[in-house]
Amino acid sequence: MFNTFKKLFGLLTRRQRRDFYVLQLLMLLTAGAELVGVASIMPFMAVAADPQLIVSNDYLHRVYVFFGEPSTDVFLTYIGGAFILLILLSNGLLLLSQYLMNNYAHRLGGEFSVSVYNYYLRQNTLFHNRKNSADLIQHIMRDTLRLSTHLVAPALRLNGRAFSILLLSALIIYVDVFVALSSLVVLLAVYWFVFYVLRARIYRNGKNVSDYNASRNRLLNESFEGIKDIKLYAAENQLLQRFRGSTREVARALSENMILGQSPYYIVETVVLAGALLVALFLIMQKGDMEAVLPVLALYCMAGFKLVPKVQQSYLAITQIRSAQAPFNSLYEVLKAANRDDRPERDDSPALRPRKSISLDKVGFSYPESGKTLFDGLTLDIPVGEAVAITGASGAGKSTILEILLGLIEPDTGHLCVDGEPLTGQKLKGWRRSVGFVPQTVYLADASVAENIAFGLPVAEIDYERVQTVARLAGAADFIEELAQGYDTLVGERGALISGGQRQRIGIARALYRDVSVLVLDEATNALDNATQEEIFRNLRSAAGSMTLIMVTHREETLRFFDRIYSLEEGAVSVVEGL
Ligand SMILES: Nc1ncnc2c1ncn2[C@@H]1O[C@H](COP(=O)(O)OP(=O)(O)OP(=O)(O)O)[C@@H](O)[C@H]1O
Ligand SMILES: [Mg+2]
Repeated sequence: MFNTFKKLFGLLTRRQRRDFYVLQLLMLLTAGAELVGVASIMPFMAVAADPQLIVSNDYLHRVYVFFGEPSTDVFLTYIGGAFILLILLSNGLLLLSQYLMNNYAHRLGGEFSVSVYNYYLRQNTLFHNRKNSADLIQHIMRDTLRLSTHLVAPALRLNGRAFSILLLSALIIYVDVFVALSSLVVLLAVYWFVFYVLRARIYRNGKNVSDYNASRNRLLNESFEGIKDIKLYAAENQLLQRFRGSTREVARALSENMILGQSPYYIVETVVLAGALLVALFLIMQKGDMEAVLPVLALYCMAGFKLVPKVQQSYLAITQIRSAQAPFNSLYEVLKAANRDDRPERDDSPALRPRKSISLDKVGFSYPESGKTLFDGLTLDIPVGEAVAITGASGAGKSTILEILLGLIEPDTGHLCVDGEPLTGQKLKGWRRSVGFVPQTVYLADASVAENIAFGLPVAEIDYERVQTVARLAGAADFIEELAQGYDTLVGERGALISGGQRQRIGIARALYRDVSVLVLDEATNALDNATQEEIFRNLRSAAGSMTLIMVTHREETLRFFDRIYSLEEGAVSVVEGL
């Protein structure tokens, strides 16, 4: 557990650490105030039991004189009032530190969440191809929240409680060493024993909660994304069964950890009540008279009343930390990496416009998890201003070539070159600014048509005139204008309210909206009828001027629009002549 704290602390920024220390100080103060509050019951009880003390005790006498020597009853009321005031003050302080603590924990969880999101956003497409998006969402949303509620908050609470327990124990020990030590030993032994026996189980339950939640998340994600297939293949029951199974496991693990956290309290309560009786008997036998026993006994009860819940809360905090260790461990590497490049990237690199050619120079590439080499020494030359088609069998690697040309994935060997210069680092970002891409399946956000065309821009910055121009170029203007709200029509989640061909045209308009020099299309017109496709090609070629077109296509009849046709076969390209 100590190791977990060390790792967690290593993740904090300087400001977060400073806040942490301030909180610790506040908690120390709170514990001190509580101690004074508890201790102040002693004079009250002492005077109540033996009013003579007002005269015989030096300190009390001075206070008594300070109040102008009132009657015993009135003086008792004063002391009682002071006691209540002190308790009020210490509880107020406790409430405040509790609030600040929770606030800190949640803020920290939120900051972790943002930095993990930032980190995932900036990973390349190869990373995202490999990862299940539901898992990433789980990390960003649920696991970071769990860190704040089950790791950071309990850790702070544990710290605060530890201060109080130490101080209160010291007070009881000061009053009577033997009784204090024996009761403390019993108290801690019970908790330690319970924790020692159960900790493996608590850890396992915590791991189960996050694992089964992750699988529930994945299941939900897939269900709604593939709802049509699910209906077609009547897969509802099977999905429901899997979901029910995981849900039961989560519920079981959560409730079990809850009861494992609470159960020792009942044992301890019994022990403490019996202990209080024993202490009373012991004191009466030892000291003989009630007057001497009462204040000490009152202090014990008070301290016990304050101490036992604190030990219980500490134990609960420890079980929570234990149950959060598994998700923390799985998130730790990500958080560490996220911390390392937390600063937002600068996106002000100027667009890199090609003047002569775009080329692949002896490019070798294979996907990390498929053992087979896709390309080895592939060379491809695309003169600026030409329209180039790439054809080849399905699975030959056409989409992969496009991703390399776009700079979305980096080749293992060889280079992507513009005007003969290899692209790296900052240049690559500039390059991405000057290319537009329409993928095989166009992604539409749940927003208006205009927002989908001016993708990635805040609504206020959308240039509607430009949106209309590019929509016309992409052959999309006619159908958009017929929509109920025109350019302001919402397209539904993932563009559910838009047809396949309309989606492709919105995709083309989007690629054109940014002022690009190269337009890359991956079978981006295969859902269109010939007439619409022809119109779009003619628009692109005439309006775009010197724009370079690179397109993957299977359709014979589109090939005549291109200046040059490359055919991809077994990792090598050849020029197709005579069309
Ligand atoms: N992320 C990935 N991880 C591992 N292998 C991949 C990945 N993406 C594609 N592949 C594999 O790489 C090969 C080339 O894929 P690519 O998508 O480039 O083919 P394609 O020529 O575009 O095919 P299609 O015409 O069907 O779109 C395929 O065998 C595919 O299985
Ligand atoms: Mg493809």
